[in-house]
Amino acid sequence: MITSGRPRPPENAGELRTLELAGLASAILLFHSSLTLAADPSDVRQPITLTPTEYSWLLNEMRGHLNAIGAAQEALSTGDMETARQAMLERGTARLKAPGRLSFPQKVTDAWRGMAIGMHQSYDAVAEGIANKETASQIMGRTAKLMQYCAGCHVSYRLVATP
Ligand code: HEC
Repeated sequence: MITSGRPRPPENAGELRTLELAGLASAILLFHSSLTLAADPSDVRQPITLTPTEYSWLLNEMRGHLNAIGAAQEALSTGDMETARQAMLERGTARLKAPGRLSFPQKVTDAWRGMAIGMHQSYDAVAEGIANKETASQIMGRTAKLMQYCAGCHVSYRLVATP
C-alpha cells in the first residue's frame, strides 16, 4: 500500500476508531486486488485445472519443448543433423507413450488434444525433413508449423493448480 503521508497520532478514541476503519478498508482493498490478479478479466484464456503434480509435470514438459527446439536449432546451425533429428524425434509421437507420462483427458478439451497431437506429429515431421536432407528453409518451414501449435495453445489456455 502506498500512502502519501503518515497519519498524525490519534488525539482521541474517535480518531483511533477512524484509523482502524481506514486500516480495515485498505486490507479489504488489498485482498480485493489480489483476487483481481488471480482472475484478471482481461485474460480471456480458458483455464485448465490440474492437481499440483500434474501442473508441475506439464510445465516441466513445456520447458523440455523449448529446450528441444533450441537444441535442434543450435545443432542445425552447426550442421549436426543427427543431433537435431534426435532432439525432434524424442519430442514426437513417441513421447505420447513415454514411461512416467501423465494423462488427464477429462480435464482438457478436444481443441487442446488436437493441438497437443498436432504438435507431436509436427516434431516427427521436422525429424523426417532432416532425415530426408531437406533444405534449411524447408526445415525452417516445418519448425514454424510446429511452433504454431505452441502459440495457438498458449493463446487459448492457462493452467490453474488446485491447492
Ligand atoms: C496443448 C496446449 C499446449 C501446447 C501445444 C504447448 N503448450 Fe506450452 N503451455 C501451455 C499452457 C496452458 C501453459 C501455461 C500457461 C499459463 O498458465 O499461463 C504452457 C506453458 C509453457 C511454458 C512455460 C513453462 C513454465 O515453466 O512456466 C513454456 C516454456 C512452454 N509452454 C513452451 C511450449 C513450447 C515450446 C511448445 C511447442 C513446441 C508448447 N509449449 C506447446 C499449453 C501448451
